[in-house]
Amino acid sequence: MFGDFKDFKIIKDVNSFFQKSEKLYKNNKIIMCVPNTLIHYFYKKLYPKFIFLGAQNCHHSSQYGPFTGSINSSMLKKAGAKYIIIGHSENRKEGESNEIIKKKIISSHQQNLNVIFCVGETIKEKKRNKTFFVLKKQLKESLIKKSDLSKIIIAYEPVWSIGTNKIPKINELINAISFIKNEVKILLKTQKTPIVLYGGSVNNKNISLFSAIPIIDGFLIGGASQSSKKFIDIVKNYYK
Ligand code: PGA
Repeated sequence: MFGDFKDFKIIKDVNSFFQKSEKLYKNNKIIMCVPNTLIHYFYKKLYPKFIFLGAQNCHHSSQYGPFTGSINSSMLKKAGAKYIIIGHSENRKEGESNEIIKKKIISSHQQNLNVIFCVGETIKEKKRNKTFFVLKKQLKESLIKKSDLSKIIIAYEPVWSIGTNKIPKINELINAISFIKNEVKILLKTQKTPIVLYGGSVNNKNISLFSAIPIIDGFLIGGASQSSKKFIDIVKNYYK
């Protein structure tokens, strides 16, 4: 929950940065998931567009209905979103179940939207050695066999690393991400390897640690994306 109309400057600066660097632009995809109130405004103002716009959540119903205050995937699509973050731990904490997340993924796919599906264990679960059990359950209970893998990006976000400045050890990260990739292949009965991002306290300093782990396909950046400089520095330092 961050952002106002004036924060178009952040997105504009990041967009210009990618516009200037054809090489970076060609090899990367930048997706800015902004508050619903800003999607359409940013969509119209951003030209030429080097970054994609997305939302941070949606209601699970694909139809209009008696859900006052809610916004569904079709409304977000019409506003200009191409992506939706689903299953963020902050929403899971508010009671969002794997079953509801599954419905949200299905309704987003019905709208042909790409889903950034967040999974990750809490500190309690990690301490009890339940990380793989939790990841498996979250994937199994929210993905269906027919889920379109080309429209799903998984974000591994250990809950204890979000906004805390704590990051997993390199071997923990490699193990968790390999596990997710493998589980998704089994669940969807596919040979295709899913795209898996890491998210949680990524900044312009620790990004160089992550860039040494090729199994990570990208990053979900929270706090550091509130400043175009911090965000651009992450990209620059990744390629240093
Ligand atoms: P952070 O947030 O980068 O500030 O830890 C990540 C997130 O909100 O998913």
